[in-house]
Amino acid sequence: MTAKPITLHELPADLHRDRLPQHVAVIMDGNGRWAKNQGLPRIMGHRRGVDTLKDMLRCCKDWGIGALTAYAFSTENWGRPLEEVDFLMTLFERVLRQELREMMEEDVQIQFIGNLSALPHSLQQEITRSVEETRHNKGTQFRVATNYGGRQEILEACRAIATQVQQGHLTPDQIDEAIFERHLYTAGTCDPDLLIRTSGEMRISNFLLWQVAYAEIYVTNALWPDFDRSEFHRALSAYQARDRRFGKLSSARS
Ligand code: FPP
Repeated sequence: MTAKPITLHELPADLHRDRLPQHVAVIMDGNGRWAKNQGLPRIMGHRRGVDTLKDMLRCCKDWGIGALTAYAFSTENWGRPLEEVDFLMTLFERVLRQELREMMEEDVQIQFIGNLSALPHSLQQEITRSVEETRHNKGTQFRVATNYGGRQEILEACRAIATQVQQGHLTPDQIDEAIFERHLYTAGTCDPDLLIRTSGEMRISNFLLWQVAYAEIYVTNALWPDFDRSEFHRALSAYQARDRRFGKLSSARS
């Protein structure tokens, strides 16, 4: 008798439903290396990366994880060859157009974080349309960081707060974490509990610098196009084995 294939449609039995991260953030690294390993042009890695991201989003719904934030394009990625940047912009636009109906069916609410005004106009239009149409969906919150930089986000918040102080709406000693957070792209959303980075690099790469203050970080050697539900299962198992102390003593020692 052949063994039943593991489909992982449902939450794996060894994971505790009540201790899942509510919000997972991913640095999707390794598309280019994946393509190179297959003897393919780099852009094919990005194409496969989209398939992985789509399955991750479905998996969050299947397993009961409320929010996923993906780092699609950093402020530094403009430094890549023009053809690759153009390909990525066109890819984002096409994926948004093609996947909107499915996002509606799956009750996904999509949002974007980053400096969107620098993106091609047609992509901005597609972004606005997908955000507007999915606005009232109540399922997975899917945030896409596009032309995103954590330092830039913090600087923009500082400028906005400084302007309020200059105009007399705030005094410097009134500035606290809650006020600061309200000026970030992620205002009103919960911070990531788990940050996953693929392809083995031990870096944050300017992603959600403020928001990952207490996130558990999980790095896997898997390249993003190979990051499947088994890999996600491993990441969640590692997360559930961690003792999240938030600067206090461990639960075992307190
Ligand atoms: C990093 O791999 C990946 C990117 C810069 C692009 C990721 C984008 C997607 C997967 C598409 C997402 C689409 C939507 C609509 C959200 P790399 O190119 O740095 O890989 P390397 O380090 O191996 O060169």
